[in-house]
Amino acid sequence: MFHTLRFETIPNEPRLTHVTMEAIAQAQPNIALVKYWGKREVDRNIPAVPSLSITLDSLWTRTKVAFDPKLRADDVSVNGRRDASQSSRVTALLDTCRRRAGVGLHAHVDSKTNFPIGAGLASSASGFAALAAATVGALAIEIDAVELSALARRASGSAARSVFGGFVEMPDALNGNVTAQPLLSATDWPLRVIIALTSEQPKPTGSSDGMRHSAETSDYYAAWVDSAGRDFMTARDAIMERNFATLAEVSEHSCLKMHAVMMSSNPPLVYWNGATIDCIHTIRRLRNDGIPAFFTVDAGPQVKAVCLPECADMVHAALQKVNGVRQLYTSNLGPGVRIMESMQ
Ligand code: DP6
Repeated sequence: MFHTLRFETIPNEPRLTHVTMEAIAQAQPNIALVKYWGKREVDRNIPAVPSLSITLDSLWTRTKVAFDPKLRADDVSVNGRRDASQSSRVTALLDTCRRRAGVGLHAHVDSKTNFPIGAGLASSASGFAALAAATVGALAIEIDAVELSALARRASGSAARSVFGGFVEMPDALNGNVTAQPLLSATDWPLRVIIALTSEQPKPTGSSDGMRHSAETSDYYAAWVDSAGRDFMTARDAIMERNFATLAEVSEHSCLKMHAVMMSSNPPLVYWNGATIDCIHTIRRLRNDGIPAFFTVDAGPQVKAVCLPECADMVHAALQKVNGVRQLYTSNLGPGVRIMESMQ
């Protein structure tokens, strides 16, 4: 049985309605400008800090969820290979949805990406956003986009933001029910992102483990949490005013503070390689020369340059010359998660 899932758009809030046992969803990675690093509550996966991101359009994850009475356990594959590494998080999300729908069946989960996974390119953000939407679609659970974002957040904090397109905020919530919400659409301020891939190796320490380690051992962790709200508000205002210079400063600052926390953990978490640092200097030099571009780096060695579209060729050319840059991806800002007719 196959039915498609429909998004009914009410202002700024796609609503998911449908009936099915199988669905496909696509989501794109998002890049945090004000970073999430640290959890207030591990069990419910509540971030310790607010964060703010941009959703990409040219990298994607497509995930098909198909419930099957013949299965005795969930069967998860990523890019054509059985994948046990994320299976407890996948099953936890499926369990939440199964309980809500009153369904006891296991599911085939088949996911594919058009970019390397687990290397600091936000594959868990797009992966868990797509998984949440496809599961909800397959089980015909009536849910709005904000609730879908909370569901994705429990699996992976950054996935909550990939539910929405364009500029997305995930503020603190006093009741602990943290969800992302759209701030500005992709077309309202069409920035361009150039991603310099400096290694295809999976990162040595995943984000969840890294965050726990930083909270337990970094002397800078408390200061990081204390200052995050201020950075969040500065970035939010800069986006609303389309103030590129301020957004550039606060984004680089948030990124470097997060890496200072990582590096001051004990033993230290050093996600960068030599090319990462060379890319950072290249982008800083461009900005000193008046080119509107800034960098950000997540829990991995890849560097993301954010710039105005008219400067994208120049930024691309400069990063291409950096030794150790293996590949460049260029992306506009894109939409949030959506249901697809096929995996193709
Ligand atoms: C460095 O969302 O992967 O990319 O909630 O434990 O799954 P979990 O963490 P995750 O962390 C992302 C960390 C980051 C910064 C960010 O995206 O805000």
